[in-house]
Amino acid sequence: MASSFPSVSELVSGAQQLYGQMFGGEAARVAVCAPGRVNLIGEHTDYNEGFVLPMALPLVTVVVGSEISSQNVTLVTAASDADEPQRLDLCLSSDGSSLSPGLPRWANYVKGVIQHYRAPPVPGFRAVIATSVPLGGGLSSSASLEVAFYTFLQQLKPDDGNQVSKAVACQQAEHTHAGVPCGIMDQFVSVLGREGHALLIDCRSLDATHIPLGDPGLVILITDSNVRHSLSCSEYPMRRRQCEEAASILGKDSLRDATMKDLEEARGRMNDVIYRRACHVIEEIERTVQAAEALKRGAYKEFGMLMVASHNSLRDLYEVSCRELDELVSAAMEVDGVFGSRMTGGGFGGCTVTLLLTQAIEKTIQHIQEKYSGSPTFYVTTPSQGAQILSLP
Ligand code: GLA
Repeated sequence: MASSFPSVSELVSGAQQLYGQMFGGEAARVAVCAPGRVNLIGEHTDYNEGFVLPMALPLVTVVVGSEISSQNVTLVTAASDADEPQRLDLCLSSDGSSLSPGLPRWANYVKGVIQHYRAPPVPGFRAVIATSVPLGGGLSSSASLEVAFYTFLQQLKPDDGNQVSKAVACQQAEHTHAGVPCGIMDQFVSVLGREGHALLIDCRSLDATHIPLGDPGLVILITDSNVRHSLSCSEYPMRRRQCEEAASILGKDSLRDATMKDLEEARGRMNDVIYRRACHVIEEIERTVQAAEALKRGAYKEFGMLMVASHNSLRDLYEVSCRELDELVSAAMEVDGVFGSRMTGGGFGGCTVTLLLTQAIEKTIQHIQEKYSGSPTFYVTTPSQGAQILSLP
C-alpha cells in the first residue's frame, strides 16, 4: 500500500500546537512551507551546468513562528527522526559566531540560511519546524528546510524577492553548513516548482521552463528503497572532481560545453573512469533535453525509455546506483502501464521514480513489493507547488 502523509494544514496545526506548548500558549503569526523534490531525469548534471527536470512534491517542510523584540532565536523541530536536542537557543551576535555549524545537525541548515540571508541582519524569532519529507531519504528534506526557512525570514524582513537568488542563497547554506557541495537543482525547484508541472532548469543560465505534467491518467510513483549507503557522502564530491578533471582535459569550462565527439577525440588522454563519468554527463544532458521535448508532446513512452537509459547510465558509467535501486527499477519495468523508472537523486540508496498510468498503480506497487528483497515505502505523487506563504486560521 502507498504511504499516506500529512497534509500541509495538518502539519501547520501540529506545529502551531507545539508552538503554543513551547511558548506559553502564544500563537505563531507566520506560517510558510516548501516542498521536497523528485528528479524525473537529468542526474548529476546540475553541477556540470547542464539541464535537470525535477518536480516539487506534495511532501513539504512547514515553519511556523513569530518575530520577537530581542536578538534571540529559539528553534524547535517536531521531526521525530531529527537528532537531539530538538530545541536550540541562540543569540544572533554581531560577529556571527552563533551561526557556526555544530550539533544538533538539523539546525545547521537554519543557521546556514540565516548566514546567507540576503537582507541581513535578521531579527530575533521563535519558530517550530514540521515536515512530511523523510529525512535523508533522497527527496531533498534539507533543501525543503532551507527554502522554507528562507521564506519564513522573508516574512520577518523582506529581501528583494528575487527567486533565483533565494535558491542560490539556500544552496550556499548547504555548502557551508552541511558540507555538501551540491548543485542548484533541489533548492531551485523547491522555490520555483509549480503544481501540475515539471521544471526544466538550465543550470548554467538558471533559466527555467515549466512543463505541463498534469495528465490525470498519469502518476509519479516514488519508491524509497529504505537503504542509505554511507558511500554517498564521499562519492558525491569525488564525482564532482572527476567531472572537473574531464572538463579540464577537454579544455572546457564545464562538461556542458563538451560533445561526444570531443570526448572520443580526447579518449587517449584520460583514464577509463574519467571517460565514463564524462560520457554519462554529456549523454544525460542530451537525454534531459529530449525528455522535456517528449513530455511537451505527451510522448510518455519515449520519456520512459529515456528514464531507463538514464538509470542504466548511472549504474554502468557513473556508478552511483546500487543493487537495491537496480532491483526496484527492474521490478517496476515488468509491469504493464509503467512507462519508465530510474534511480533519482545522488544515488547509493534512497529512492526510485517511476512514471506510470494511474490505473496501473496498485498492481505496480504489489509487484515491486513481491520482487524487492528489502521493505520499500511508496509515495504516489503529482507535481506540486514551490514555497508558499500560508494563512493561519
Ligand atoms: C543531490 C544534489 C543535487 C544533484 C543530485 C544529483 O541531490 O543535492 O544538486 O547534484 O544529487 O543529480
